[in-house]
Amino acid sequence: MRLSDPHLLAALPALGVERVAGASLAERTSLGIGGTTDLLLIRKHAALPELVALLRGGGIAYRFLGGGTNLLVRDGELPWVVLHLAKQEQDVRLEGTVAFVDAAADLGRTVTFCARRDLGGMEGLIGVPGTIGGALRMNAGAYGMQIGSYVREVELYRAAEGRNETLRDEKISFEYRHTSFAPDDIMLAVKLELPSKPYSDILQGIRICNEKRRASQPLHQKSAGCIFKNPPGASAGRMIDALGLKGFAVGDARVSDRHANFFINAGKARCADMLALIDQVRERVRVVHGVELETEVILWTEERL
Ligand code: EPU
Repeated sequence: MRLSDPHLLAALPALGVERVAGASLAERTSLGIGGTTDLLLIRKHAALPELVALLRGGGIAYRFLGGGTNLLVRDGELPWVVLHLAKQEQDVRLEGTVAFVDAAADLGRTVTFCARRDLGGMEGLIGVPGTIGGALRMNAGAYGMQIGSYVREVELYRAAEGRNETLRDEKISFEYRHTSFAPDDIMLAVKLELPSKPYSDILQGIRICNEKRRASQPLHQKSAGCIFKNPPGASAGRMIDALGLKGFAVGDARVSDRHANFFINAGKARCADMLALIDQVRERVRVVHGVELETEVILWTEERL
């Protein structure tokens, strides 16, 4: 979608919002799939309520893009503009064992930054690509830990209220790859309370997780991590593997040879290829294992949210 309303375009600079016309989401997502649209880069959290009010007033649909690492986006000209938080110069600040982190901060860098200052707990997340905001929204987890365990407060744009708010942890529920945030809430910053640990111990944990990840996941190929959530008490990857589906492909969308719950863009996969692959694998699992797999990756494939 291309913004053309002169009133709206004229209001952006005063809000500190930069318009990137015709941005490619294929270039901004780890799967390398997605069409084009105008992207609005937000430099100040405080500008969000006014920006969203302007978009709503103009009847312009919008979606919020974080790190783009857990996302499948449709092709062609997209029917909504995309909002994106600019990376702050200083995005992590520590006070004792508490870390104040901007949502646009890189997850891995944040884990490392805290580790160097003897704050641990998030070792398992080191190889998870994406931002702190995305990790919060999905309650990212790996190797027995999840980010939600360390959250004390979240600053967010609450779409239902049309304003920025701070929520304390007791007001948020973090479950397996699910949180109580509304789909159109936008994460802005988080306060994490982390356990004190010597850097050398944290590093040891990080090394172990990195090794496990390298051995089992296709880290250097275009993917969005695991495509399906694990059903209670089972592993989606193991079930897909048991069906002999590693390497199964629709166009350039392919089930990884290394981990069957990772679907790869092996070349020029289109969104439709990836969706067809998801549907076909889900159907095979349903027929043989009697389980309906739910996608873990967020789908921006429909016109509406
Ligand atoms: N397995 C197979 N074949 C495969 C893949 C896995 O037999 O192709 C078996 C493994 O041998 C193992 C079991 O299935 O016995 C579980 O596999 P793994 O340890 O790789 O864990 P997972 O359940 O597939 C989950 C998360 C990952 C996270 C890892 C490590 C989900 C959907 N996936 O994978 O998260 O990195 O544990 O903790 O919860 C993600 O969220 O995108 C993601 C990759």
